[in-house]
Amino acid sequence: MVRIHTLNVEPPVVNASCAWASDYEQLHELYDSPHTGAVVTRTATFNGFSEDATNTVAFAKSSVTSLNSYGYSPHPLSKYLDWVYTLLTTPMLDGSPPTKPIIISITASTPTVLAEMVQNIQALRKKLRASYSASAYGEFAPSSPSRTRRGSPGASSSSSSHAHPAPAFVSGTAMDPATLVGIELNTSCPNIKDAPPPAYTFSFLLPYLDVLSSAFYADPSLTIGLKLPPYLYSTRFVEVIRFIHTYTREIRPAAFVKGSMQEPLGPDGQVMRSLNPFAYLACTNTLGNCLMFGEQAFYDPLESSAYMEAAASSDMDTDAPVPPRTPSPPSPSSSSSSTPPPAPPSPTTTPSPFALPPALGGLGGESMHPIALGNVYCFARLLAAHPDHAIRRIRIIGIGGVTSPAAAARMRAAGASAVGCATLLGREGVRAFEILAGHP
Ligand SMILES: Cc1cc2nc3c(=O)[nH]c(=O)nc-3n(C[C@H](O)[C@H](O)[C@H](O)COP(=O)(O)O)c2cc1C
Repeated sequence: MVRIHTLNVEPPVVNASCAWASDYEQLHELYDSPHTGAVVTRTATFNGFSEDATNTVAFAKSSVTSLNSYGYSPHPLSKYLDWVYTLLTTPMLDGSPPTKPIIISITASTPTVLAEMVQNIQALRKKLRASYSASAYGEFAPSSPSRTRRGSPGASSSSSSHAHPAPAFVSGTAMDPATLVGIELNTSCPNIKDAPPPAYTFSFLLPYLDVLSSAFYADPSLTIGLKLPPYLYSTRFVEVIRFIHTYTREIRPAAFVKGSMQEPLGPDGQVMRSLNPFAYLACTNTLGNCLMFGEQAFYDPLESSAYMEAAASSDMDTDAPVPPRTPSPPSPSSSSSSTPPPAPPSPTTTPSPFALPPALGGLGGESMHPIALGNVYCFARLLAAHPDHAIRRIRIIGIGGVTSPAAAARMRAAGASAVGCATLLGREGVRAFEILAGHP
């Protein structure tokens, strides 16, 4: 088992935040899989992202690789709060209380909005605590057909908390349900128009990290992770750790553990002399601005209808994308000074030669595995060598091309405590986690 601050992740395998963790049914299925140790939601914004048919995904024919042009979830944060409440207050099929953590991935365009989102997540955690403690002296009610995990959370967001009353957990289980909910700040989506992934200019993130840090020091039971982009050169890794370290605070044991001189112990049983708000780094998000031609891709039947719609809406031919014409070799007589450079096609060229309507998108899966491994390795080495014990406690969730047990093992060998996948989930559904567990 891997413990990431308050989250016990067993097995140490999660879904990475993605389009296949968008709605209640998908989250429910991920939650019920015995092969996921925690579930991560798709990135939510306060009001929901306005998605259209140009936001889609294509898969490579030749490997388990994806290219996507999605932004964030169309569902607002409030939906995820309802769904998470329902999942964490609905008994498992065997009647036991849920113990698997759920990480809510969020992002915001201003620190003020982020602060409100964090407050709302804290309100959910309090509500979970209150509902569990209100029922702590009753008997745990085994699931009945009307309360199995297969149910829908209800059509309206306000009704969902009533659709599944909090289970009455046996007194003495001493589990704090608030510690099952974590926050992941997505700092790295490459597909937002005119908004580069902020983590590429890490100092832009500081006002957002200030918000998260304040929330943590007000309530150190909050588990916070940062979803980072793939970095391409060494000074970036050093810079990220340097900034994260500025959030460490020394602990004075007597002040921390009131009335006792005993030193507080961390989850690893070691004495904690300092605290840092950030419990983990999720490395990495997709690699932005990648291009795939139509001839390289195949389409998920569900997604290809979206492609056609996008093609139609941008006045493109509604035929399937066709391979680009093979450029003719330069004639022996042409010289570089007289031959104009090739003009790349526009995404609105008809028929489109590209796999995605906007042409460019974020690359995931096998094609980016080496870069993800390199990022995990660089961060793991820097964290392990850091003089601050709070920084050495930060975990890494290795994401990027985890498509087989061997790839997951490589991530662990590079320094990841847990692994996550998105592309494999998109290709295989929840069976992806059986594949990673070695049961293909
Ligand atoms: C279709 C799709 C949607 C994604 N959406 C999100 C998202 O909402 N938030 C996020 O942090 N990462 C998102 N990602 C990135 C994944 O979490 C992951 O970092 C990346 O795909 C690399 O992992 P993989 O190789 O297993 O796909 C998305 C990836 C894909 C393929």
